[in-house]
Amino acid sequence: MSEWFEDWFSSEQYLNVYKHRDQNDALLLLDLIHRTISIKNDFLILDAACGAGRYSNLLLQKGYKVIGFDLSLPLLKIAKTDAGKISGENIYFRSDIRSVKLKMKFNLILNVFTSFGYFVTDEENFSFINNSITFLKKKGYFVFDYINKQCLIDNLIPYSQKEIDGYLIEEKRKIENQRVIKEINISKGNERHSFTESVKLYSPGILFELFSKTGYKIIDVFGSYEGENFSEINSSRIIIIGQNEG
Ligand SMILES: C[S@@+](CC[C@H](N)C(=O)[O-])C[C@H]1O[C@@H](n2cnc3c(N)ncnc32)[C@H](O)[C@@H]1O
Repeated sequence: MSEWFEDWFSSEQYLNVYKHRDQNDALLLLDLIHRTISIKNDFLILDAACGAGRYSNLLLQKGYKVIGFDLSLPLLKIAKTDAGKISGENIYFRSDIRSVKLKMKFNLILNVFTSFGYFVTDEENFSFINNSITFLKKKGYFVFDYINKQCLIDNLIPYSQKEIDGYLIEEKRKIENQRVIKEINISKGNERHSFTESVKLYSPGILFELFSKTGYKIIDVFGSYEGENFSEINSSRIIIIGQNEG
């Protein structure tokens, strides 16, 4: 049986449901990253779980050397097609984040828009961050963008619906076993699709410990793409910028 993230991120509906997560949204976070880290022209950047290449293709456009990987073939296909219009190089490959093998050493690693917490065990969820230090250059950076647990729990919207391109998209959310579980039902006429998202919620304390124990110095923590200070109660996101102390 396939896992929820294999089905959902390979479906035609995923990009539709998250239509608001577009290039402008990516530009906001990239701008914050630029204001925090001086990204040099010769930086080699890794986009881990790059999806359709929102971030990597913007960075490619700006002239940076980027490599991206993801599990979803349909998303990688879009990323590759768009990159092809910018440069002739193939900057993408397919891998599971739990077992990714990288020979190069990067200056900057991105793991953004909640590409974390999908698996059952902490060991699996933490493995990429734990391993990242081996393919990050000395003083290299890790940018991690994830849900802020407490704010999500306090403000959970159990049900919402929206219409996009004639599709009715209904989203039901609940918290169960320290995870946020979203059931997504999509319908148009007789056409019906159902998907699940299930993301383990980790507190800021656990995340800070994870980064610190791995060998990162946490140089900044933001609560939004606009760069607001992080607040455990009020911030919708937790954006951690770590630097390899090694
Ligand atoms: C919420 S999306 C974010 C994509 C991208 N970072 C962005 O900002 O648009 C999560 C991504 O994680 C990928 N993913 C899910 N499970 C994965 C796994 N086991 N290994 C690698 N990528 C995975 C999905 O295919 C999807 O592209």
